[in-house]
Amino acid sequence: MLTSARVPIAAWAAGFLLAVVFPLWTANAGQSAMPPAAQLDVPANPAPHPGPEQPIPYSHKTHLALGLTCAGCHTNPAPGKLMTYPATATCMSCHHVIAKGKPAIKKLASNATSGQPVPWVRVYQVLPGVNWTHRKHLDAGIKCETCHGQVSEMHAMSEATSVTTMGVCLHCHTLHNAPTVCATCHMWP
Ligand code: HEC
Ligand code: HEC
Ligand code: HEC
Ligand code: HEC
Ligand code: HEC
Repeated sequence: MLTSARVPIAAWAAGFLLAVVFPLWTANAGQSAMPPAAQLDVPANPAPHPGPEQPIPYSHKTHLALGLTCAGCHTNPAPGKLMTYPATATCMSCHHVIAKGKPAIKKLASNATSGQPVPWVRVYQVLPGVNWTHRKHLDAGIKCETCHGQVSEMHAMSEATSVTTMGVCLHCHTLHNAPTVCATCHMWP
């Protein structure tokens, strides 16, 4: 039974783990990074994270409210590393009619005509050389939102979570008994 004297000690111990131990393996995530629930699979990004300026101001919030699904625009072709961006033709299936007079849609239409893909700016990116795959994570039943946040609430996409940091990869692997030896994610042993 927890006496009232022990509660602060337990709270202190939890605080110690959060404040001192966890940042040791989340150096990239920043010091006051931890959300209250230490069991969260992927913590929110504590650093300011404005979305990069995109060539076309696409809004996930607007489009997901129409009932579109992630898989309609993001596929996971073999070998499964990438989720990819949608072909311009996917957008034009609606926008050859919808909002076609708007400047952003005219720009989209000119990409469709020229066959040049829209040069979307990457938001989430791990360092080159790190062994990353979407496929194994999706096969394990992990949801997009666990790693990318509440996408359906976002107008501009931004780096809402710290999922690209090594500490967060390791934290989640430990929680789910996934491998944590260096060679899981790095070429070198
Ligand atoms: C109508 C097409 C469409 C749908 C549906 C869609 N997306 Fe996207 N998504 C895009 C486009 C276009 C971009 C690139 C522009 C941007 O970052 O906003 C993008 C970018 C992203 C990114 C950032 C990738 C990076 O550069 O790091 C994530 C994460 C993402 N989408 C997740 C989702 C999730 C999760 C869903 C479902 C809940 C979803 N998307 C549904 C079109 C779509
Ligand atoms: C299922 C149909 C559908 C698809 C597919 C679709 N959109 Fe849209 N889009 C809409 C609707 C509906 C609106 C809201 C139009 C309005 O408010 O006038 C919209 C609005 C927009 C706007 C805002 C236009 C403005 O200036 O008001 C942009 C930009 C846009 N879409 C880009 C895209 C891009 C890029 C894609 C592909 C990644 C895409 N859309 C795919 C239906 C779609
Ligand atoms: C286990 C965490 C995790 C899950 C689950 C996850 N992602 Fe990602 N996602 C990442 C990481 C990490 C990156 C950066 C990877 C890189 O640098 O190639 C990324 C990059 C992306 C990108 C941009 C680059 C590309 O083409 O892969 C898109 C788009 C994306 N994710 C969409 C999604 C969608 C949609 C889902 C759900 C179907 C999803 N992600 C599920 C962690 C995740
Ligand atoms: C939300 C939890 C979660 C996050 C975040 C996460 N992983 Fe994983 N990862 C898993 C799980 C669970 C598995 C095991 C899937 C299985 O057993 O097949 C896995 C498997 C893998 C594998 C395949 C291992 C193998 O040998 O089959 C690689 C590589 C990997 N993760 C890399 C990463 C990297 C790199 C990051 C960070 C950028 C990351 N993961 C973030 C949960 C996560
Ligand atoms: C679950 C995946 C995962 C495991 C396991 C892992 N790392 Fe990493 N590591 C990463 C990711 C992701 C990055 C890149 C972080 C970023 O993009 O900011 C990274 C970056 C690094 C870096 C700095 C960048 C570089 O590539 O030189 C070093 C050093 C490093 N890891 C060492 C290790 C060591 C040592 C181990 C074993 C004790 C280990 N890592 C295990 C995912 C992992």
